[in-house]
Amino acid sequence: MEHKSTASQDLLLPLHSNQTSYVLAVVGGRYVTQRYWGQATESLDALAAVTSDTAPYLTTQTLADGRTLSLDRLPLEYPTLGAGRLGPTACTTRFSDGARTTRLEYRGHSYGTQPELPVGMPLLRPDHELGGATCLRVELVGTRGLALQLHYATFDNAAVLLRWARFVNHSEEPFAITDPAAAWVGLPAADYERVYLAGRWAHERQVLRAPLVSGLQRIESSGGATGHQGSPFVAVCASGADEQQGRVYAAALSYSGNYWAAAGCNQYDAAELGLGVAKLETTLLPGESFDTPGAVLVHSDAGFGGMSAAYHDFVRRGVTPRGARAGRRVVINTWEAMYFDVSEHNTAAFAEQATPLGAELLVLDDGWFSQRRDDTSSLGDWDTNTERFPAGLGGAQQAVGRHGLDFGIWMEPEMVSPDSRLATEHPDWVLGDPQQPAALGRGQLILDLANPEVIDHLIGEVGRVIRESQATHVKWDMNRNMSDAYSRALTPEQQGEAMHRYILGLYRLLGQLTTEFPQVTFEGCAGGGGRIDLALAHFHPRFWTSDMTDAYERLEIQYGSTLVMPPELLGAHVSTVPNHQIGRSTPARTRVLAALAFWYGFELDPARETQADREIYAWGAELFRRHRDEMAEARFVRLAGTLGAAVGSGRRAADRAWMLVGAKHVFVFWFAVLAEPDSVPRFLRLPSLPAGWYRDQATGLRYDAALLGSRGLALDPPQHDYAAQHWILERAE
Ligand code: DGJ
Repeated sequence: MEHKSTASQDLLLPLHSNQTSYVLAVVGGRYVTQRYWGQATESLDALAAVTSDTAPYLTTQTLADGRTLSLDRLPLEYPTLGAGRLGPTACTTRFSDGARTTRLEYRGHSYGTQPELPVGMPLLRPDHELGGATCLRVELVGTRGLALQLHYATFDNAAVLLRWARFVNHSEEPFAITDPAAAWVGLPAADYERVYLAGRWAHERQVLRAPLVSGLQRIESSGGATGHQGSPFVAVCASGADEQQGRVYAAALSYSGNYWAAAGCNQYDAAELGLGVAKLETTLLPGESFDTPGAVLVHSDAGFGGMSAAYHDFVRRGVTPRGARAGRRVVINTWEAMYFDVSEHNTAAFAEQATPLGAELLVLDDGWFSQRRDDTSSLGDWDTNTERFPAGLGGAQQAVGRHGLDFGIWMEPEMVSPDSRLATEHPDWVLGDPQQPAALGRGQLILDLANPEVIDHLIGEVGRVIRESQATHVKWDMNRNMSDAYSRALTPEQQGEAMHRYILGLYRLLGQLTTEFPQVTFEGCAGGGGRIDLALAHFHPRFWTSDMTDAYERLEIQYGSTLVMPPELLGAHVSTVPNHQIGRSTPARTRVLAALAFWYGFELDPARETQADREIYAWGAELFRRHRDEMAEARFVRLAGTLGAAVGSGRRAADRAWMLVGAKHVFVFWFAVLAEPDSVPRFLRLPSLPAGWYRDQATGLRYDAALLGSRGLALDPPQHDYAAQHWILERAE
């Protein structure tokens, strides 16, 4: 596979996906660098040409062929301190003799066709549909017995590049690694911008864009989860790149714990990006190894739309379990309808009202167990409150079933209330610093998932609740971050890994439960969207996108969430007005349309809604049920928003629009947000539709792809704030 170079050429190690080439060069047989990342190319001779490169005031290396170069000028694949490197490094090393520096040099490589994957961390499902794999393993060695393997995989039918790293200790002494990158990439100097996702509770995944300047700009989490504050994702793009055009280099981490994601320019204006595990110090004893999680890299010359298409395709065919995206049931959830006031009686009445709306699955949210009447108690004691549910969860399931609805149940298995039986009986199972009382978050503590006994206990408890309730859906919640991450199950040397081992425990727990209960959909929730990532998408075919249920706020949250995640995994519920989080009132139709391209459901009490609104909600459910499977396979295209606009005649910055290009239909959604006086005629362009004719179901008008791409659909001038419009275009002959 490698490029046979002549004596005066560097050894090249190319990787090709169906759209992209990623080419490593082993400079002078010693330094592993990246020489090309872009459109698929065969021009390997040109890439193999050797160069000398140094600059004043840099340390130099003289290679066997007489070349002189400085490592700070090279786009090293895994820069470490001590390589003459002046910029940031991909990890920090600390050896038992006190040394902190090490220079990694090439020792060998091998190609294969079976992806090697990081141990214990989900990256690629075994029965993936990405086509034949090309896998590359590059071996590097540093000083004092440190060996590093860099792993890469590309696929014949996918646009992604997978990367991760394994550290091995071949010495007789321990050494420590801090915050290792899963991937690090150097890019040629150019005019770049950085795009990343940040936010807070009920305001997750806002798209931020800023010029890429000197120095590394880094986001990270330290609360043991990816968090509401950011996402393990970073993109570097050419200035001016938008949804349809421009170069984008992106990386997303397949990991659910503390991460860092960074991009910046070095002193020569060359860009770099990297991402890895944060707040981790791992001590490797002789013979031990440590695997980073995987990173999923995408290069797109078709802007952010091209980037997201590659991620969505990867999630659909390489991550989410086969079949899990089909037949998505319309959910109705009890939370905003009843909060903690749940009982068999209330639930049965609720189910009766939910059926005419088109709901198919009722999820009994918080409040059904032990003494739970508010958020201060009972987590960990998962016995049904028989005052509220006299016939147990089985009785509730039957009551709901009598109205034709499937039954789902809320649990927060990772958490424990201080007053619970579980916390009293097993204080050592709680994550916490023995020297300091653990801080409470939402009145609760965290179980130590780094402890195998806790995992076994939770497998038993969740399994028992599923059996008792006959639930076919579990809403798996997680409502606080870690603050005192000391595990009583680990040795002092292992404490630096406490939060990482928690996440490994979480994967084991979810892995066992999803295997044991294949009929159950495990929905991922963390105070809304506080833990949504590629790794958890292996277990959660549905995420609760945000606790913010206002349609207007949801537009931006859902927009940003689709940078990496396909929309069919993102739960979107029609809620009541005024909205419970923000007090805003939006029209029922807008609330329905804002949810329809995602995983549709309800977060309201039907009995308190007007008949007119109920009819609109039911219309939405009907539409969703009719098209959900086509939508789940459709190409999702963001049309208007932070990263670019396809709305003609003057851009309205607040407009949001997207479409789903399915096998038979194109579903288009436009949200005008604010009405304006004397508005001018506007059109919504639908770029990159397959050539052919499209018939608007509502008007019967026929459009060809050229007209839709160049002029677009005529928008109705908004007559009121928060107006929305949708079209279903049938592909016609
Ligand atoms: C946070 C979730 O995001 C909500 O939907 C709800 O399940 C509550 N927790 C229940 O406590």
